[in-house]
Order: sequence, then structure tokens, then C-alpha cells
Amino acid sequence: MKTGIVTGASRGIGKATLTYLADRNIKVIGAARSIDLSGNNDNIRLYQLDLADSNSIDHFIQNIKTEKIDFIINNAGILLEQWDNAAINLQQLRDTFNVNVFGTIELTEKLLPYLNKGGHIINVSSNWGSFSDPDFGEFQPHYKISKSALNMYTKLLAERLRPNDIKVSALDPGWTQTDMGGASATRKPEEVAREIFELLEGNLESGKFWHRSTIREW
Ligand SMILES: NC(=O)c1ccc[n+]([C@@H]2O[C@H](COP(=O)([O-])OP(=O)(O)OC[C@H]3O[C@@H](n4cnc5c(N)ncnc54)[C@H](OP(=O)(O)O)[C@@H]3O)[C@@H](O)[C@H]2O)c1
Repeated sequence: MKTGIVTGASRGIGKATLTYLADRNIKVIGAARSIDLSGNNDNIRLYQLDLADSNSIDHFIQNIKTEKIDFIINNAGILLEQWDNAAINLQQLRDTFNVNVFGTIELTEKLLPYLNKGGHIINVSSNWGSFSDPDFGEFQPHYKISKSALNMYTKLLAERLRPNDIKVSALDPGWTQTDMGGASATRKPEEVAREIFELLEGNLESGKFWHRSTIREW
């Protein structure tokens, strides 16, 4: 039976993924800042985690009393700016990087010793982190810069972990109905959860950027 971690498991895509995997008899450790700890059951263990805080990352790793794990779904992410914002605000850029980039990388690096051979790290990225978006525009710069950095980390880590037989993938979930995506979004979190499950189960190539179960351009 597989065991792994889903960050940002308190709502949205992360919560849907937590439930989807647990329903398929996968043991999942879910984490977020404000998580309802009463949601624990045989397949789900929930812990508090603030990716912007190194101490919280260390406590999380101590608390889960890490046995070996098979996957990490780096799903937690923040979009702080208004959708029509194009200007750089350095504080917002730093705050965004603290979660989407630095916290995500710190957690991943600290968990690497616990990953089983054959393991898989999935970084939930975005079309807004892509260099190939035909509708590329000047808006949401902090978020976009952070997700493009996460994509580069994905490719670098995939090469680094190839000899260890650990896969690393990025996922563009598409516009999804969550607090971040809003109610008008075209996709349901459960559809993305199914894709994450399929990525975990599939015998696929490492170091790729996935969208709707196919490889997309970076
Ligand atoms: N929805 C979309 O249309 C869309 C499109 C492309 C990509 N994405 C990506 O998909 C992922 C999930 O997004 P979503 O739409 O499900 O967003 P969401 O509904 O806003 O959920 C974000 C999750 O991240 C957690 N989180 C935020 N800050 C955190 C921190 N400092 N430490 C730990 N956890 C933190 C939140 O929990 P707490 O607040 O409790 O900590 C929450 O569980 C994100 O990486 C996002 O960038 C979403």
C-alpha cells in the first residue's frame, strides 16, 4: 500500500486529492495551516504546516514520525495579487516565493531521505508559470514568476533523482473551482485529483509538465 503527503489539503485541489487517494486505499498525510484535525481516519492523517515558516516545516516532519513515503504532492500555493495586477510589489513577490518556492523546496529537500525508490514528487504548478502560453499577458507577475521557478526546480530535481529511480513531475491543473480559481472556473477539483492519482499510478517519464493527462510544453 502506498503512503505519501499532500500539502494544501485543507481545501480545494489538495482536499479533493486527499479524499480521492484515501478512497483508493492509499495512506495520505495531509497538511495545511488551518486543517480540521477531526478528519483523521484509517487512511488519512492530518497535520498543521506553514510552508512560510522553517520551524513549522521541521515540526511537521518530526510530527509525522516519518516512515518511508512513496510520494509528495506539493499542492499548497498562494495567489496574493488581484487578477488584473501587472505591477511588481516586492513584499508580495517575497511572500509568494516564501510559500510557492522556498517553502515547497525546503519541505521537499527535507523529505528526500524518506522517499522510497520508485517514488514520485508532483509539483502543482500552473499554466501561469508557463513560457509557452499563447495568451501570455502581463498580469499576476508574482504568482507567475513563482510557478516558473517551481517548474525549473521540477526539471532540475528530476535529473538529480533519476539515478535514485524517483520521478518528479509538474502538473498544470487548469482553471479549477476553488477559493483560488473562483466559482466560474471550468474544472472541478475532483477531476484534478483523478489526474494526480493517474500520474502516481502510471509508468510515465520523469521531468515532464502534465495537463489533462498529457505532456504539455513548459
Ligand atoms: N484553482 C486554480 O484555478 C488553479 C490553477 C492553476 C494552478 N493552481 C494551483 O493548484 C494548487 C492548489 O490550489 P487551489 O486552487 O486548491 O487553492 P486554494 O483553494 O486556495 O487552496 C490552497 C491550499 O494551500 C494551502 N496553503 C496556503 N498557504 C499555505 C502555507 N503557507 N502553508 C501551507 N499550506 C498553505 C491552503 O491551506 P491553509 O490556508 O489552511 O494553509 C489550502 O489548503 C496551488 O498550487 C495553485 O497555485 C490552481
